[in-house]
Amino acid sequence: MKEILKFIEQKKQDFVKLPLFKFMQDKSIDPKQRLSFAPCLVPLAMGFGELCNIAFRQEPTTNKIQELINKHTYEEHFHWQWLLEDIGKLGLDDSLRLTDAINLMWAEETKKNRAVCSFLGQYNFHADPVLRLVLIEVSEVTANVFFSITKTVAEELQKNTGQEYRYFGMCHLNVENTHTLGKKDAVVFLESIEITEETREKAFELVKLAFEAYTEAMNELLAYAKKQENSKLLQVA
Ligand SMILES: [Fe+2]
Repeated sequence: MKEILKFIEQKKQDFVKLPLFKFMQDKSIDPKQRLSFAPCLVPLAMGFGELCNIAFRQEPTTNKIQELINKHTYEEHFHWQWLLEDIGKLGLDDSLRLTDAINLMWAEETKKNRAVCSFLGQYNFHADPVLRLVLIEVSEVTANVFFSITKTVAEELQKNTGQEYRYFGMCHLNVENTHTLGKKDAVVFLESIEITEETREKAFELVKLAFEAYTEAMNELLAYAKKQENSKLLQVA
């Protein structure tokens, strides 16, 4: 398993270079604008919470890997609530009618964010907890990159508004950084797991596919944020 975790770390090095993260670090753009993709992220964030409750968690279990996954689901399943809270604080609550908001959740412009959870749900049906763990590890690593950068934007914004942004800011990042799966004894255990050649091959493939799904979702967030920027400019003109 150590080799798989190392491969995930390698893939992270490419992920961190995505244009969304450059966009979020561009201080010439209003920080609210840099987080204006928030509604587009809802299907991923809420879908992930639901997957924790109905798919990743398998109880009861005698399998130590599954036990760790179960713990993780209890640590992770409710974070979407902070996203909804931040959407309100970003002033986006009144920007759409209910029917338009419902439509957005199933729109073309949010489909890659929906696709992440479809992908995770589909591959979660592999009986082997090792493969379920791979899906969660990639989700953790990509989330860590994402929230490390949103945190800096949320802090800039907090200076202007005096409000705390629990999803994009320090609160979420702190929770992400203290997950049981990231604790030293858990990492030592995960690295020591022996896997068969067949599982190893499947795991490598899953890592690649999961990074692809998250990459496309990040690119979609960027396109959404830029679209908000353009429509604002048109309104001003
Ligand atoms: Fe989270």
